[in-house]
Amino acid sequence: MTVSKIPQHVAIIMDGNGRWAQQHGLPRIEGHRRGAEAVKRTLKAAQNNGVKNITLYAFSVENWNRPENEVNALMDLLEKFLQNQLPELIKRQIRLRVIGRYSELPEPIQDQLHKCEEATSEFTEYTLGLALNYGSRTEVVDAVKAIAQAAHAGVIDLNELDYEGFRAYLYTRDMPDPDLVIRTSGECRLSNFLLLQSAYAEIYLSTVLWPDFDETEFTKALTEYAARERRYGRTAEQLSS
Ligand code: FPP
Repeated sequence: MTVSKIPQHVAIIMDGNGRWAQQHGLPRIEGHRRGAEAVKRTLKAAQNNGVKNITLYAFSVENWNRPENEVNALMDLLEKFLQNQLPELIKRQIRLRVIGRYSELPEPIQDQLHKCEEATSEFTEYTLGLALNYGSRTEVVDAVKAIAQAAHAGVIDLNELDYEGFRAYLYTRDMPDPDLVIRTSGECRLSNFLLLQSAYAEIYLSTVLWPDFDETEFTKALTEYAARERRYGRTAEQLSS
């Protein structure tokens, strides 16, 4: 089996904004602001390195449990980021795709997201997936409900349903599965992020806090990815023959 050494899709759990702020004696939101700068750097780094799809875990379904002022500040930051970055996405021909329970987000954000998705919908080469109000478990529940409805309406035959058919009901239906999942800040867990889609992804743990993440760190992850052997359940001997 030959696989490309450049991952088609890199998914990132951007962690460590709060700790970065604490280390610098700044409020947590300043860590998030610096985190938004790291997002811009990472988008450039991805394109520079030929990575066509990147998905960023920006807000999980569990993040609503954070203090209200932090949630509001994150939503504000996101809205401004989208406003400022739309011309850049267009210039770089990057399609924006939101994954998550869209309709539960504040309306101004939904409007901004719709605007960005629409304005970039024609681009086919590069995709930025933004995981917002995202959780793998809710994604699976939403998919199962939609499948049940489709089966009830006679649109699909449950006896014929396989994983490819199931996959068509996930939020990520029009993106390839991630080849590489990066988590920053040294934490070692997936936190309800793309659990099904990452079944065969390589995991890279960076000790850098997200606001310090840059092209050098991104390239380190790609270099390690290129050295990994992806066996998909086969033996090493089978791969080399
Ligand atoms: C995790 O760090 C980070 C988040 C929950 C939010 C991620 C948001 C950004 C990177 C900025 C805005 C995003 C975009 C797309 C503009 P944490 O706060 O849990 O850090 P900690 O574990 O050190 O407290």
